[in-house]
Amino acid sequence: MIRAFVTGWPIKHSKSPILHGYWLKEHKINGSYDAIAVEPDNFLKFLKELPDSNFSGGNITIPHKELAFENIALRDEAAEMIGATNTIWLGDGAIHASNTDGYGFVANLDDFSDKWRSGKTATIMGAGGASRAVVYAILEAGFTNVRIANRTLSRAQNLADRFGERCSAHAWAEIADLTHDTDLLVNTSSVGMAGNEEVPIPDLSNLPAHALVTDIVYTPLETPILKQAKILNLHTIDGLGMLLHQAVPGFEKWFGIRPKVTDQLRQTILEAS
Ligand code: ATR
Repeated sequence: MIRAFVTGWPIKHSKSPILHGYWLKEHKINGSYDAIAVEPDNFLKFLKELPDSNFSGGNITIPHKELAFENIALRDEAAEMIGATNTIWLGDGAIHASNTDGYGFVANLDDFSDKWRSGKTATIMGAGGASRAVVYAILEAGFTNVRIANRTLSRAQNLADRFGERCSAHAWAEIADLTHDTDLLVNTSSVGMAGNEEVPIPDLSNLPAHALVTDIVYTPLETPILKQAKILNLHTIDGLGMLLHQAVPGFEKWFGIRPKVTDQLRQTILEAS
């Protein structure tokens, strides 16, 4: 029996066990995927004991992604660039780390159309951990002008500095002015959600008609930003597909089969919410 896990704190709201459980059943694999709650103070102990466990690997989620990254020596390029890991596996007695969030982000967009790849200019709202993965992925996809706008400007500046000359940092109030030549607008922040109304949802009315608007938040599926974009008749993609696609490389590593993201899987996850 092949065993995998997801660990975080708290972990009980994670959709990953349902997602991987769906694929295990679909492919009739003798395997398991379980949620393991690990308190931050116990995480390093958990990591240390992993090579002697019978796990093939697993997912690491909030708040352990950065600590795991810092304590795993064998990291791939995506993990290195993003500075966090969400997917680990055991090989030759050692732990290996990757970060599949950026992959999940682009695979979600590609699922609808690859037209977004001809864009050059992206505006990213938010400068936290999720934003780092998105900026990395968008640069990899060939965007030449990536603007990062954040409520706290210094965090946007840090992120822009980290990724170099194709990136620039902007204050939240600048977003509306950045929209007129934006090909891809990504929200990685919780702006406009219940209890997060202290900064305004930017005016998106100057986005060009071809612009694609996407959000990485998927609860609710239609976030305030996506709602506004839809009213403006812009193309929108919700964030659920990123969750589904980021899980694909891990499942393949642990269980040996590359699973598919289908409408039925999406429906299963939505119904489990
Ligand atoms: P994540 O891993 O989801 O990116 P994070 O690292 O805590 O989480 O980052 C949260 C992001 O959402 C940050 O960009 C944060 O802005 P600040 O750096 O100014 O804190 C942004 N954010 C959180 N609440 C917000 C709100 N009410 N309005 C706008 N941005 C918000």
